[in-house]
Amino acid sequence: MQTKFLGKALSTPLVLASGVLGNSKAILERVHQNGCGLPTMKSIGPAPRDGHNNPTVIDLGDGMINAVGLPTPGYLNMEAEWTELADRDFPVNASIYGGSVDEFVRVAEFVSAREPDFIELNISCPNSDQHGMIFGVNPDSSKAVVAAVKKVIDVPLIAKLTPAAPDIGATALACQEGGADAICAINTAGPGMVIDIESRMPVLDFKKGGLSGPMIKPIAVRCVYDVYKSVSIPIIGLGGITTGRDAVEIIMAGASLVGIGTAVRYRGITVFNQVNKELEAWLAEHNTTIEEIRGAAHGDTPFSDRRAK
Ligand SMILES: Cc1cc2nc3c(=O)[nH]c(=O)nc-3n(C[C@H](O)[C@H](O)[C@H](O)COP(=O)(O)O)c2cc1C
Repeated sequence: MQTKFLGKALSTPLVLASGVLGNSKAILERVHQNGCGLPTMKSIGPAPRDGHNNPTVIDLGDGMINAVGLPTPGYLNMEAEWTELADRDFPVNASIYGGSVDEFVRVAEFVSAREPDFIELNISCPNSDQHGMIFGVNPDSSKAVVAAVKKVIDVPLIAKLTPAAPDIGATALACQEGGADAICAINTAGPGMVIDIESRMPVLDFKKGGLSGPMIKPIAVRCVYDVYKSVSIPIIGLGGITTGRDAVEIIMAGASLVGIGTAVRYRGITVFNQVNKELEAWLAEHNTTIEEIRGAAHGDTPFSDRRAK
């Protein structure tokens, strides 16, 4: 199911969420071959960083909690990856983060020169006290980062938002005003905590972590709904999407593309082909298209009438 996003042709409307599978060309190519229209790279930071100590990821059954902690070789130490990616025949979304506007700008300028197809600003990670969410919870700081980065890059800019923002619609609008070309919603929810009652201690070494997977889907759907109401730029909707029906739901909230992260763990790397097939089957069964159902949930038909359809 071909689609266009910010002027680029994508083989499918599905996006690999950042951080779930890393940055090697081999793995990004494999997800693309398995039905992912737009693979996103793991967030690239301003300096080498190990991330947090194990345990960093716990499977909770209906989702995961993680505090991986933004490990990165640092933007200056990825020449091997960029050289490999230079002759790719698939699009790539490069995710970046920084601890200040200046750091975001430095990383963005360098990464833009390596010619990814899009740059995604991670202003939303809950697992670092110095990075990510501290920008994305506030419309003004979100706008400042977006506007500064926009000036130094040559590729379309996607702002990735956190559900922890008090008003995610206001944050999205600020990003649009700052020059963002699209919004990605959402990063992990929370942060949450899991305590092992026998040891009487939090299980994650970092103690708290971001929630992902099916348990956060209603939060993601609500966030995409709020963002769609506030902006005119396209939205990548993600958070708990595991099946074609989930994809339909977040498209009805307003998403143009659909991201998949944690579901790779539950359904394997072929999850993209599976979700594409399920989405296509649902659309065919209902004799409709993605364009027709996008934002459908914003209609004002009374509930009693809607049920009849
Ligand atoms: C283990 C793990 C690592 C992640 N790393 C990143 C990251 O580096 N950058 C980022 O923007 N989001 C990161 N995320 C968040 C995902 O990209 C995604 O926004 C979130 O997990 C919700 O989608 P999902 O429920 O489909 O997983 C990570 C998520 C997980 C589970």
